[in-house]
Amino acid sequence: MTAPVKKAVIPAAGLGTRFLPATKALPKEMLPLVDKPAIQYVVEEAVSVGITDILIISGRGKRTIEDHFDRSFELEYYLEKGGKNEELAQMRAIADMAEIHYVRQGEPLGLGHAVSVAREHVDDQPFVVMLGDDIMHEKSGILAGMLAAHERTGSSVLALKSVNHSEVSLYGCVAHEPAGDSLVRVLDIIEKPAPEDAPSDLGVMGRYVLTPGIFDAIEQTAPGRGGEIQLTDAIKVLMGTEAVYGYSFVHGRYDVGNKLDYLRATVEFALEREDLGPALRIFLKDFLGPE
Ligand code: UTP
Repeated sequence: MTAPVKKAVIPAAGLGTRFLPATKALPKEMLPLVDKPAIQYVVEEAVSVGITDILIISGRGKRTIEDHFDRSFELEYYLEKGGKNEELAQMRAIADMAEIHYVRQGEPLGLGHAVSVAREHVDDQPFVVMLGDDIMHEKSGILAGMLAAHERTGSSVLALKSVNHSEVSLYGCVAHEPAGDSLVRVLDIIEKPAPEDAPSDLGVMGRYVLTPGIFDAIEQTAPGRGGEIQLTDAIKVLMGTEAVYGYSFVHGRYDVGNKLDYLRATVEFALEREDLGPALRIFLKDFLGPE
């Protein structure tokens, strides 16, 4: 058994080109799902599994992320004055959720490079990497399952999901063998392969539990696809010295960097809300008409 993982890294320095023009001046991590920015769901997910220290890798134009997790004394003053106590408590809770730190990536040289920027902060302990594009449903238990697998194996654990064969080229893709309950041993990993070159249909989703060995591995990783330093390629290097596992899951992930999935998440999350769900359900029924 290894010690519980306490630190998470959220790389948020990418350009968000799939969501232009919304992301021209607004970080994609700040796009709201109903009334909460995407990155808040990710921070809440981290906190829910016992993470207490979060490092956000930020970049140009990402200041609003820092503002979001900071106290806003002016807003709090007016909420207090207006007797809006519930909203006031909510605003304070956001700033108190976890210890959140920031470091800048400088240039978006790839996800692997973004993770390398966390080295000094993370030090020599296993840690979690969480991508803000991937929102996991709060009831999915994916990260908790990955951390339990990490505690059992002491190894890095990647989130894996089966995808349509035609879509493997959107993901890091793994060759694997079974290793018990939802767990596979990763035998090979390839960044965004052509479907005919994919070793399986299991794609890597945006959650990783990584051992600190990944930092040396990233240093040894040359720029790959798109001229970027790919985390996938660094994981392959890591596999030269350490076992890497995958935790495979089926439900509960939304790729909110993709417009259709973003809409699906927005509707599903709103339907689950007590204050919005019933009225939205009536609207959707009306809008879509009889079957
Ligand atoms: P993506 O390549 O999906 O993100 O990287 P992107 O560049 O922001 O988005 P698109 O594809 O152009 O729409 C996955 C994650 O890694 C972060 C991104 O912010 C995203 O959360 N990332 C990527 C960095 O932090 N730095 C980088 O250099 C690249």
